[in-house]
Amino acid sequence: MDELIDQIPKAELHLHIEGSLEPELMMQLAHKHSVSLPYNSIEEVEQAYNFENLQSFLDLYYLGASVLRDEDDFYQLMWQYLCHCKEDNIVHAEIMFDPQTHTDRGIGFDVFMPGFKRALDKAKQKWGITHRLIMCFLRHLPEQSALETLEAATPYLDMITAVGLDSSEVGNPPENFTKAFAKAKELGLLRVAHAGEEGPPEYIWGALNSLDVQRIDHGVRCIEDEKLMQELIQKHIPLTVCPLSNIKLCVFDHMRDHNILELLGRGLLVTVNSDDPSYFGGYINDNFRSMNEHLGMSEQELKQLCINSFKGSFLDQASKDKWIQQIEQM
Ligand code: ADE
Ligand code: ZN
Repeated sequence: MDELIDQIPKAELHLHIEGSLEPELMMQLAHKHSVSLPYNSIEEVEQAYNFENLQSFLDLYYLGASVLRDEDDFYQLMWQYLCHCKEDNIVHAEIMFDPQTHTDRGIGFDVFMPGFKRALDKAKQKWGITHRLIMCFLRHLPEQSALETLEAATPYLDMITAVGLDSSEVGNPPENFTKAFAKAKELGLLRVAHAGEEGPPEYIWGALNSLDVQRIDHGVRCIEDEKLMQELIQKHIPLTVCPLSNIKLCVFDHMRDHNILELLGRGLLVTVNSDDPSYFGGYINDNFRSMNEHLGMSEQELKQLCINSFKGSFLDQASKDKWIQQIEQM
């Protein structure tokens, strides 16, 4: 099974690039830019990564991102993630980034977008890894800030496929971002949103009905609402589930309690993703290995999850068919 996990082609659909910042690079960039962090060593960083909930993680995630300052920092961040893609046989990555985390510190699209592009072009050329970029709005900030972010992104829209919604879920329902998502749709952008991670099933309904999303990020709490389950099944709405993230943020007590295989068995289009791998203790293959160890995933389930990752992606149909056929022949 471990060999099949390594070798099977996969798409990653839920990855925050700022969440792939490894402690080594964080310390290195903090030194480079004289940014002071409350850690004296890599071990201290790792010890701090013990989270009680989403917010306790987000506090450290935004702190970590404060070391990213120039074009080369963003290049290195993206390049390191793409090297993990190569290692884990991720052949297509749909990568989220949080502009407001950077623009609020005076670092503009003209700094991070060229850095991302340089790494993405190199990975495409060297390894054939394809990608899409998803620009996320921080939901703890006002909708006006999301609208301003969309405006600031204007010169880079040809690099951006979709908008997303992330950060503190509970108390910040999707309906707060109806105008920003409608504007994004008008601009030809696709839409995804984090919903039903910590928040209730109503937030998943809100993302579907008010934001007109093509995918739900996380969505594991859909299981509490049978009508919603039927809606997600019938409309083939992909859920980008992140098993290790859900354990680290205490959405489930233990991997053996995770509902991902139950959702898969019920016919939902669920996929496996790493979310913020450097904070949650593993990249995509670590997620699959942990599921195998604690949930007893079968080879058929593994193949279906990887087929779903292409089905649920924003790739063109011919590319989807090519990868799905390759998996079916394995
Ligand atoms: N930003 C980065 N990771 C996130 C997550 N798992 N949920 C909400 N916002 C996030
Ligand atoms: Zn996420």
